[in-house]
Amino acid sequence: MTNRARKPYIAGNWKMNLDRARSLDLIKTVKGRLGDGGDREVAFFVPSIYLADVTAVAQGSPLGVGGQNLWYEANGAFTGEVAPRMLREVGADRALIGHSERRHVFHEPDDWMGRKVRAALDNDLLPVYCIGETLDERKGNRTDRVLKRQLESGFDKVRPEDAHRVTVAYEPVWAIGTGETATIDQVDQAHRTIRKWLVQRFGEPAANLIRILYGGSVKPDNARELMAIDSVDGLLVGGASLQAETFLPIIEFDR
Ligand code: PGA
Repeated sequence: MTNRARKPYIAGNWKMNLDRARSLDLIKTVKGRLGDGGDREVAFFVPSIYLADVTAVAQGSPLGVGGQNLWYEANGAFTGEVAPRMLREVGADRALIGHSERRHVFHEPDDWMGRKVRAALDNDLLPVYCIGETLDERKGNRTDRVLKRQLESGFDKVRPEDAHRVTVAYEPVWAIGTGETATIDQVDQAHRTIRKWLVQRFGEPAANLIRILYGGSVKPDNARELMAIDSVDGLLVGGASLQAETFLPIIEFDR
């Protein structure tokens, strides 16, 4: 058992990887291993085209299943987009918002983030709001400023009573998919900056319910060390979440 204020949250982000058969295999394997869940929350963020099949297989287990993105309107002329209620309809219970690749490859601006987080909450989806600085921003000593700006936009429409349903993922852009993990000190400092901002914004009781995950080249051999940092409540895992052999040891970081 862990002696933590917040339940550890280990999430896999498949991005645009795997196919239908391999996705379902992976869900079956993890579901079998998890049993009734208990002391940690485990979830996968799945390509929307596979959500209905994946949630059907995950049913009856504590596994969470989420979308990787959403648009904040309920319907309309938004070719290629997915509405929050559509994610709900195919069984998703959560969604990533503002992932680094959405921001940097698809140029999603800060000012969409508050509306996306709000739309998730209004549709009973648990948002994981992703933030993080680029290498240039870190080198220019702008990390704190960038994180605060991203927090301002994402939490713009969040009320203190919603706080417990929101998770923040700190993912330095330069550590995603690069094999380069932030140092313990860098992770701890960023997480403390985020926690401090949340406390100022929502007050201690509400802010203390919000989990802050680390993401960026999390692997079986660094998961334990990252989870040992007091300010880290969980992990958001990309590449290493695509196979049971690498994801299970991360879920079981303390065994
Ligand atoms: P990575 O991706 O673990 O492959 O670095 C993390 C993420 O983008 O969430």
